[in-house]
Amino acid sequence: MEKVIETVNLTKAYKKVLAVNNLNLRVHEKDVFGFLGPNGAGKTTTIKMMMGITKPTRGGVKILGYDVFKDGVKAKMQIGFVPDQFDFYPELNAVEHLNYYASLFRIPKEERSKRIDELLGMVGLSERKNSKVKTYSHGMRQRLVIAQALINKPKLLVLDEPTVGLDPKGSYETRQLIKKLGKEIPIFISSHLLYEVQEVCNRVGIINNGKLLRVDSIDNLTKLGGEINVQIECINMDEELINAVRGIDGVVDLSADGNILKAKVKNSELIPEIVTVITKEGGRIKSVSEVTLSLEDVFLRLTGEKNEG
Ligand SMILES: Nc1ncnc2c1ncn2[C@@H]1O[C@H](COP(=O)(O)OP(=O)(O)OP(=O)(O)O)[C@@H](O)[C@H]1O
Ligand SMILES: [Mg+2]
Repeated sequence: MEKVIETVNLTKAYKKVLAVNNLNLRVHEKDVFGFLGPNGAGKTTTIKMMMGITKPTRGGVKILGYDVFKDGVKAKMQIGFVPDQFDFYPELNAVEHLNYYASLFRIPKEERSKRIDELLGMVGLSERKNSKVKTYSHGMRQRLVIAQALINKPKLLVLDEPTVGLDPKGSYETRQLIKKLGKEIPIFISSHLLYEVQEVCNRVGIINNGKLLRVDSIDNLTKLGGEINVQIECINMDEELINAVRGIDGVVDLSADGNILKAKVKNSELIPEIVTVITKEGGRIKSVSEVTLSLEDVFLRLTGEKNEG
């Protein structure tokens, strides 16, 4: 599989802080890669080094095989970039704005209007394309920047916290757009929102204090921690039944709430045994479901802010 981003020992030290600490990361062509970390983790610094805006103290980055610092122009031509902050010429409308960027990329005049119309349709701005950007909402501006980033048909889209500051609707629309784009182009997106990464990405890298803590698929990460939470809906529960389940070797934790029994177990092979014990004790099971960890739990475990026994 082709590597669209590869960082090797990528490091950025500022006077007082090691913003990015020996980062080794690979993003492949089928990835919608979530770069997840809290404020100050080093996400923007990493992205700025990927874009050739900030020079690493040590190490390097390749974009589709091009070294960002030795072959900067070729590398940058491959990337559509949505920075965390952006400015507009407020008097331009969306078409004029995109025309300006199309000219910077030397897109032939005869191709421009078709490309711009396509992009405005894709980001849902066709109806407002002739309004000045200064009349746009924050969400509309964000979508215009995404259109701008796609103007030269990049082979990789990099977005730095694209939903920050958006209201729930704007944020939802941006996520839907990113999901749609992710089917066509590899994406690297930074975020501090766990549910966002969970919804949009297939792989995630977790960064904290400049260090990459883990890279994994969303599926594997949500199973992290070994133990499995099982939820059993059961009628005819009594104290005796609950104690019998609690006594099973490998049941780490158990609580009952109305008709719901919540158990934390060491592995999924214990589930049939629990079902047998409940049935033997006279309980009638209506449903059994496995609850995986939320990405939030995973993140807290990895960053050591929550130590579950
Ligand atoms: N130009 C700079 N000079 C000095 N320190 C910097 C500079 N840029 C970033 N830092 C520091 O590097 C660390 C990482 O910052 P960075 O902006 O990369 O984090 P981030 O993960 O993008 O955070 P946020 O979620 O708030 O955007 C922080 O401690 C920050 O204060
Ligand atoms: Mg940032």
